[in-house]
Amino acid sequence: MTNRTNKALVLTALALASGVAMAGISNTKHNLTNAGPGPNRLDGTATNTQEICVFCHTPHGSNTDATAPLWNKNLPDPAGYQVYGTGNSSTIDGATLTVGSVSAACLSCHDGTQAMDNMINTPGSGTSPSADPATAIYSWDTSLGGTATGIMGTTTIAMLSQDLTNDHPVGIEYCGGGITGSASAIAGSCTDTDFLTPTTRNINGQQVFYVNTAIGGSDERQKTDIILYTRDFSGVGGDPVAPSVECASCHDPHVESKDPATQVSFLRVSQAGSGVCLACHNK
Ligand code: HEC
Ligand code: HEC
Ligand code: HEC
Ligand code: HEC
Repeated sequence: MTNRTNKALVLTALALASGVAMAGISNTKHNLTNAGPGPNRLDGTATNTQEICVFCHTPHGSNTDATAPLWNKNLPDPAGYQVYGTGNSSTIDGATLTVGSVSAACLSCHDGTQAMDNMINTPGSGTSPSADPATAIYSWDTSLGGTATGIMGTTTIAMLSQDLTNDHPVGIEYCGGGITGSASAIAGSCTDTDFLTPTTRNINGQQVFYVNTAIGGSDERQKTDIILYTRDFSGVGGDPVAPSVECASCHDPHVESKDPATQVSFLRVSQAGSGVCLACHNK
């Protein structure tokens, strides 16, 4: 047996032990090339790209306004969104910010306002293709239900739209607020005690927060932990350096295989027994 096969076997065993297999992005709906499983993918003509990462990341010239690394797309204006708030619930506790952090990056495709192939640095000797983010640069395959415009269709739940009042809150301070931290110590306590206490670390001068799940067996931050994103809630009645729930708290956009409990890929932990929900909510 080659080393490579050995490594693959070990990885498979680890993935099975954690409940969610993790083998890479290429067989997920985030592979927008014609080799991806669809429904939204390029039509495979010779002038289309075969690159997977480029729809989201670029090695050069990235959008530094985005809280996602080396981001290759424009972000919509936060003022265009409606967020989950007290209008939707009388029991909501946490301070809520406008759409930002990593959620803005996800929504640059999932709100249905931009062509998914409209990127800042196109493959090859690239330039910015078009000032209008709604303009596609490649031709798209419509045979699996995708749209010819490269804009996510309106008929799927995956197209969240800019009305986020019917979605789990994002940009909301974790556990009703009250938590901040320095070095590896949580300070304060959850205002809403129906939540698990997060962990904190100072990594490269940045205070980070996450809810440590049992998966992976380490106290350090891992992709199978529920990542809470550090944001400043002081302008909206919350804490200045505080953990926030964002799209990528529950989802890792690169995780391959479908969670058997939901048939949805990209969940950080399995949703069997509502494992994702119970990773934060003490219910
Ligand atoms: C559909 C969009 C999308 C695609 C395609 C994508 N990424 Fe990402 N990537 C993201 C987002 C969003 C984040 C920030 C997520 C977070 O905060 O954990 C990220 C974070 C990362 C990070 C830093 C955090 C981590 O998980 O290690 C690396 C490295 C990375 N991506 C590499 C890649 C590579 C390499 C590819 C192509 C093989 C790729 N990504 C394809 C959206 C994407
Ligand atoms: C470059 C465009 C793009 C970006 C950016 C993007 N997505 Fe997606 N995503 C897609 C497409 C296309 C699909 C398939 C949509 C469909 O089923 O109609 C998809 C599907 C999904 C699904 C469902 C997967 C499944 O197996 O059913 C999840 C969950 C998801 N995305 C989460 C995210 C999150 C979280 C982020 C940010 C961290 C993100 N996406 C960023 C394009 C994108
Ligand atoms: C609190 C956790 C959580 C947050 C935050 C969250 N999601 Fe999800 N999302 C889930 C779970 C769990 C599922 C699987 C639902 C199911 O059981 O079918 C899901 C499913 C999805 C799907 C697939 C929908 C479908 O039916 O095809 C997409 C796309 C998606 N999420 C995108 C996003 C985006 C974009 C954001 C941020 C605006 C986000 N999610 C924020 C937990 C979350
Ligand atoms: C990343 C941690 C996290 C995960 C995972 C999570 N939630 Fe939440 N959820 C929160 C936070 C924080 C709030 C805001 C609570 C508040 O401020 O009162 C919230 C709010 C809610 C609310 C509204 C509560 C209210 O008082 O209006 C419901 C319902 C809910 N979540 C259900 C779920 C379900 C179902 C899942 C699994 C699909 C889930 N949550 C996963 C953190 C999480």
